[in-house]
Amino acid sequence: MVKFNRRQFISLSTVGVGAALVGNWLRRGTSSQLVTSRAINSQPLYKSSNGLLELDLEAREHPVNLSGKKAHLLTYNGQIPAPRLEAQPGDKVRIHFTNNLSQPTNLHYHGLHISPTGSADNVFLRINPGEKFNYEFDIAQTQPAGTFWYHPHLHGLVAEQLFGGLAGLFIVRGKEDEIPEIKAAKEEFLVLQDFSLDERGRPLSSMHMSLMMGREGDLITVNGQVNPSFSLPAEGLLRLRILNASTSRFYRLMIEKHSFYQIATDGNTLNEPIEVRELLLTPGQRADVLVKADNQPGQYRLLNLPYDRGNMGMMGGRGMMGRNNRDVPKVLATVNYESAVEPLSLPTKLASISGLPEPLTVRRFELNHGMTPGVGMAFLINGEPYHSNLIHTQVQLDTVEDWEITNTGIMDHPFHIHVNSFQIISRNGQPESLPAWRDTVLVRRGETVRIRIPFRDFAGKTVYHCHILDHEDLGMMGNLMINA
Ligand code: C2O
Ligand code: CU
Ligand code: CU
Repeated sequence: MVKFNRRQFISLSTVGVGAALVGNWLRRGTSSQLVTSRAINSQPLYKSSNGLLELDLEAREHPVNLSGKKAHLLTYNGQIPAPRLEAQPGDKVRIHFTNNLSQPTNLHYHGLHISPTGSADNVFLRINPGEKFNYEFDIAQTQPAGTFWYHPHLHGLVAEQLFGGLAGLFIVRGKEDEIPEIKAAKEEFLVLQDFSLDERGRPLSSMHMSLMMGREGDLITVNGQVNPSFSLPAEGLLRLRILNASTSRFYRLMIEKHSFYQIATDGNTLNEPIEVRELLLTPGQRADVLVKADNQPGQYRLLNLPYDRGNMGMMGGRGMMGRNNRDVPKVLATVNYESAVEPLSLPTKLASISGLPEPLTVRRFELNHGMTPGVGMAFLINGEPYHSNLIHTQVQLDTVEDWEITNTGIMDHPFHIHVNSFQIISRNGQPESLPAWRDTVLVRRGETVRIRIPFRDFAGKTVYHCHILDHEDLGMMGNLMINA
């Protein structure tokens, strides 16, 4: 059940919403007084047709309305969040990209199993201001359907550009979407982003934030809105596809008096729905969940509960960002019951994930931070900060490896690998019971996580890194060469 105590409950705060709501917060559960929040936006959608997803995508600064204020954010096609892209296994993708930012940038397709080279998921490309680039790649027939996303990935500028707003969903539709209960469910996409603006409505610059901690904004948005509302058909199912597109913020989500039935971790379907009261999403992670409208019709809040991801103590503190989300629960959105539909039950069988063979190779990675000569404070993997000219790890295509990742630092680090998804084998030696595929795994401070990765289909150079993107920019990344 709900774990926060009464004191925390009373201090429950929302972000940017007026004090009129205070009365409602003190009442548990539903309230007869409707919270007035605006209906949730959905992103403009680009969908593939006849096997081709083709669009123009322009990165540029653009004024947007953020919680009633004019904000000058970094956008794709002027949108916060960026347009949603939808394709199917077997499709070709062609993105005519223009960089109209004042900095170089590029695009990464987080979680997609596509080539890391050429004009595909190549994070080593540098597209300068005013330049254009045509991304073109094929989505394999074997690509699992799921929730993926795109964002900039030019080392050193990733956190700043993501914090400016550059992020969008990339959905692959496939057979999971045809499971009758899932197909009949109402679907919403929630993109979680946080911002901090200066008095001119521009994102606070890196200078004003604790990069060691990882920058967190005080304005938390869902689809670019503060506390939007969405509806849940009574007796029906709501499918929420949630993306943590924040630079550093973790979300610990809960809907009052409702469970989440998780059906996918990152971009991969689970064998069956798993009931969870709380859903922890680190930066980069996604979850696909079903919510069953089996309570009293009314209004319920989607909350973000406190989470302590460690701190930099004397070395960074919280900077000028003020309190972060380890303090109090916050209201992210409001869910309203709407008129009843045909009762829907949860699906039972979704997928069949099988285990991987025992690998011959076990590699060890240690995550920490420290002083490095000439660089100063840096975030390190095996004692080294990222160096663009080095190959840190070489693997052989068509092999499976275990990576044992140990966090000896004082902050949590979500570890992410490009191109290939993996399974968690154990945490601190305890076998992981849930069969699941992921592309980002939380390694808590003091913890050792063992993951098993098959390197399949694509050779070439790519990366692994901490998805607290300030940590990545400050060195917690390695180059991975997959040799053919
Ligand atoms: Cu969201 Cu290197 O990734
Ligand atoms: Cu990625
Ligand atoms: Cu980190």
